[in-house]
Amino acid sequence: MPILFDPASRVFRLDTDVSTYAMMIYEENYLVHLYYGAKVPDAAPLAKLMTRGWFDSFSPRNPKMDDPDHVQFSLDFTPQEFPGFGAGDSRASAVEVCGPAGDFVTDFRYQSHRVFPGKPALEGLPATFAQEGEAETLEIEMADPATGVKAFLLYTVFAHNGAMARSVRFENAGSNAVDLERALSLCLDLPAMDYDLIHLYGRWNKENTKVRQPLRHGSQSISSRRGMTGHNHNPFAALLRHGAGEEQGEALGVSLVYSGNFLIEAEVDTWGCPRLLAGINPDGFRWRLMPGESFQTPEAVTVFSANGLGGMSRAFHRLYSSHLIHGEWAHKKRPLLINSWEAAFFDFDGQKLVEFAKEAKELGIEMLVMDDGWFGQRSDDHRALGDWWVNEEKLGCSLKELVAQVNQQGLSFGIWYEPEMISPDSDLYRAHPDWAVCAQGRQGSVSRHQYVLDMSRKEVRDNIFEQMRAVIEGANIAYIKWDCNRNISEAASAALSPERQGEFFHRYVLGVYDLMDRVTKAFPHILLENCSGGGGRFDPGMLYYSPQIWTSDNTDPVERLSIQFGASLCYPIASMGAHVSANPRTGFETKGAVAMMGTFGYELDPRKLTPEERETIKAQVADYHKYYGLIRQGDLYRLTDPTENAHFCDWELVSQDKTQVLYTRVMMRRPECFFQHKRLVGLDPEKLYTNEETGETYSGAFLMNAGLDLSLRPWPAPKDGDCLVLHFTAQA
Ligand code: DGJ
Repeated sequence: MPILFDPASRVFRLDTDVSTYAMMIYEENYLVHLYYGAKVPDAAPLAKLMTRGWFDSFSPRNPKMDDPDHVQFSLDFTPQEFPGFGAGDSRASAVEVCGPAGDFVTDFRYQSHRVFPGKPALEGLPATFAQEGEAETLEIEMADPATGVKAFLLYTVFAHNGAMARSVRFENAGSNAVDLERALSLCLDLPAMDYDLIHLYGRWNKENTKVRQPLRHGSQSISSRRGMTGHNHNPFAALLRHGAGEEQGEALGVSLVYSGNFLIEAEVDTWGCPRLLAGINPDGFRWRLMPGESFQTPEAVTVFSANGLGGMSRAFHRLYSSHLIHGEWAHKKRPLLINSWEAAFFDFDGQKLVEFAKEAKELGIEMLVMDDGWFGQRSDDHRALGDWWVNEEKLGCSLKELVAQVNQQGLSFGIWYEPEMISPDSDLYRAHPDWAVCAQGRQGSVSRHQYVLDMSRKEVRDNIFEQMRAVIEGANIAYIKWDCNRNISEAASAALSPERQGEFFHRYVLGVYDLMDRVTKAFPHILLENCSGGGGRFDPGMLYYSPQIWTSDNTDPVERLSIQFGASLCYPIASMGAHVSANPRTGFETKGAVAMMGTFGYELDPRKLTPEERETIKAQVADYHKYYGLIRQGDLYRLTDPTENAHFCDWELVSQDKTQVLYTRVMMRRPECFFQHKRLVGLDPEKLYTNEETGETYSGAFLMNAGLDLSLRPWPAPKDGDCLVLHFTAQA
């Protein structure tokens, strides 16, 4: 049983195969945190970890302080599971409720708990899922009588994945309206600050770049206030124990299954104890809860690994591949596609697309995606978002005819949408100006010449859904690219009352989830790929609906390395949209090798390829099929991180049975020293691995200890951007 409660010590113990999480119902029914780390023996005296039962004169004490038999302690020092604001703990809180009296004091205490198999769905929210036998869930009921609010803390243990999922459901069990001012999903108090904080920062064209910085006193946080997750920070962070690295030492990852304003904060208190918090960003958030109403927070997923960042990433990859991505396409083989965007931008018609399809078919490509520009008066990015009718004049035929012609060439057909947006120059805007997000009395800002549609409104979602349905049902559509090219400003909804405007951002996200849910349920055969000006919304919430997400508009293969390496900290590589484009930075081999560490596809004009390029592409297509299983189910090992090494980026995929190894090296810049050895990781030391190209055989132990001799030859001179791909096989 992964979840145990000892009534004598009042300790909860949540075990995965590799970790233990422990908490205790302490004095006055406070729920205190005891431990999160490597698995400890069954008989471990976990209650003894509660060492902070004391106080100082500036830290408010527990009310029973004058009772000589009572343990005197201050919440200010106590590691807690669900700390409230203003009741003695001055650190950043997980929850803040404005109660009927108008103050913000919040103080939740343990009431009861229950344990059940499997995992409940979270209403209106994407979340990890599990059947009975795959996970177990602990629900702890907490109450704050002064506000009348109950909180149900959910902890699901994925024992074989080394992962836990946490969220909170609030219920207003009182008889007055209250406001949730802060409703985070996770609080994790740790006993020491000897960690580095790893996170992913970025911007458009440079998403998911890894940053590593030591924890220090005070607060460090990553967040979004953009309405969407944004390019700037991914809702993921890891704490890496000092001395730990890519494949060794303790790593603790936190990933938020959410696509809106978020906060992940690490606050180190005056005693050097870090508190990690994750959830909806409290900035601009306030949720009115009427008596009887409830509120569900998004879930935060944690992974503990004793095998460094690599071990942590592989646990996330396995969890998200099997317990988050869902629907028909979770396990079905995905088509190798070519996308029209970088090939034609807005300059296409039906005939050009059919020509693309014809050329692509000869190369072995399986799907053509018609990107932006097919609808309304969309001749450029200044207009027509919201007018989702097919511009037959531009295409020169109906969509049905176009798709039929592409199908005749042997390719399936995909289409681009940006459902959450509205151009000021659109029929939709002229008919419904109040459907654009804008605060009362303000001028809405445009960005890429567009406003954001108010997705919190059902009638807006209904309208867009019906428009999409008419197009999708009218032709043989097999794929949708769902784009989102700006963030929210002047955030407010014309449909919300003033006291509920603080709900707008979250209601927007719930609205987007609702629309995605409707589209994917109405058309389950359609493969959905998310995108937000590249990787501006690359998060687990989106991954729930779409098994792949466009990673970046940057298709420069060298710059892509750090973007894809960063994203791989949390996300399976099979979810990372990656295409070979006409970008001239390297040859086709390297572009293919880098895109192969992703979904793989093309984004170029296939009519303009040289005969040599065509042959290279045919070989890449063959490799795509050959390595498909390895890329989707293999374990990823990041061997040389391009953000830490100026010359090389190396990675390796190893099949679960360790009989297949795909090793790739890209030389970003030629090194001074031509003598190079590279040790592989994650092999079976006993197995004999054969280099498929040369026939040379090495033991796994040799490859992992001595390594491969990859010394460069002075002639022909190696070039920046060259790559090396090696495939090894071993007997099962
Ligand atoms: C941004 C996306 O990232 C691109 O791939 C492309 O779809 C454009 N939008 C179209 O406007």
